[in-house]
Amino acid sequence: MANPDGAAETKRVFRGTLIHATREEAAKVLEDALLGVDADGKIAFIGEGKELHRLSKEFAFSPSSVIQLEKHEFFMPGMVDTHIHAPQYSYAGTALDMPLLDWLNTYTFPVESRFKDQNFAREVYTQVVKRTLRNGTTTACYFATIHTDSSLLLGHIADKLGQRALVGKVCMDRNNSVKHYKETIQESLEETRRFIAELLEKKYALVKPVVTPRFVLSCSSTLLGQLGQLAKNNNLHIQSHISENVEEVKIVKEMFPDSDSYTDVYHKHNLLTNKTVMAHGCYLSDEELALFRETGASLSHCPNSNISLCSGLLNVRNVLNHKVKLGLGTDVAGGYSASMLDAVRRALDTSKILTVQDPEHVTLTFEEVFRLATLGGSQALSLDSQIGNFEVGKDFDALRVNVTVPGGPIDLIEHDKPKIILEKFLNLGDDRNIVEVYVAGRKVVPSSEKLLY
Ligand code: GUN
Ligand code: ZN
Repeated sequence: MANPDGAAETKRVFRGTLIHATREEAAKVLEDALLGVDADGKIAFIGEGKELHRLSKEFAFSPSSVIQLEKHEFFMPGMVDTHIHAPQYSYAGTALDMPLLDWLNTYTFPVESRFKDQNFAREVYTQVVKRTLRNGTTTACYFATIHTDSSLLLGHIADKLGQRALVGKVCMDRNNSVKHYKETIQESLEETRRFIAELLEKKYALVKPVVTPRFVLSCSSTLLGQLGQLAKNNNLHIQSHISENVEEVKIVKEMFPDSDSYTDVYHKHNLLTNKTVMAHGCYLSDEELALFRETGASLSHCPNSNISLCSGLLNVRNVLNHKVKLGLGTDVAGGYSASMLDAVRRALDTSKILTVQDPEHVTLTFEEVFRLATLGGSQALSLDSQIGNFEVGKDFDALRVNVTVPGGPIDLIEHDKPKIILEKFLNLGDDRNIVEVYVAGRKVVPSSEKLLY
């Protein structure tokens, strides 16, 4: 992996506090730890600070540098945004005054139709990739628009700036609000095949295609079925939306009276696999969650969007009890913030509101939500063999967090322990505290990369 200056990365050892999620512990703290990163960006070993000499010898690892973290710094795994609409970043923070279906017709489709223009696409996509990286999103699962070349541009920009990404050219053959913002079935399939072929041809190390039917209301049954087949034949990721809003669920039921549920509609079209991530799922029944579990499909919880569009409140505890994989998503721009720290806070708020409504509800802890933002997201995207925590052999996707940056948003009391420091960062921190971001060992923030066109 080349670094931004073009030179090969060298072997490095970091020494200091590490905090990550494991199978056993939602937020495991390792104080004065060592983490060795190989020249290919993979984690070579983890150990105790005092073992530097022994571990370097045991792993025949002669680092070019040993980097010591400062007192109030720690490394955590990079955050995984399991659901974000790159074109909608252009109006993030505005236009949240109506429910989902009206919102799509009034704001979303008119804006997305502008992404036929590659200059506009380049400008917005560069901004969204830079913004999310700066805020600690090392992996993003993007919806683009129906436009193949602009969607390819998003892949190029993510690769150039060093973000790990799944990129989807949106498929939709139904929409009654914006005349040209839809495809025929044939166009949608041909352009999706072209998108996948051209993206794979680039051989980007970290950017992959994802088959993206927008949602049931935007796609005919024929298109859904063909996309399911395409994903199956090529073992591709799939993303879409499900059960976000009451009105949407009602219309889907009317359209597919022979299906048992919204989930069953996707299942019958071969769109529920262990590489599928569905956004929202606020109104899924226990039977539907059982089908998610059975097929290995996952959910993306997007709490800012669910609240901003008054869509609903997902009961994450119930989803986890069903052992369905779940990550967090910003859902920009139904969600107004591109920061995964915001998704963490809104997920905690949502869980607390559910406890207000039902005192029996077991509120999520900040450690559990930390796990969802990192390891949970990697599982939801079926990338957990590569990323999600600091297991040896995984890629080094990490944030160097400093909670005491001058002028920053956090005050510490002298003896705050690492768990308290993590909690303060999750609740109060922002991009000023994320002093470095690494993806596959490459330092992408701060970056000397210039996007030249
Ligand atoms: N359902 C179908 N399309 C969209 C979208 O762009 N945003 C959200 N939040 N839900 C959707
Ligand atoms: Zn969405």
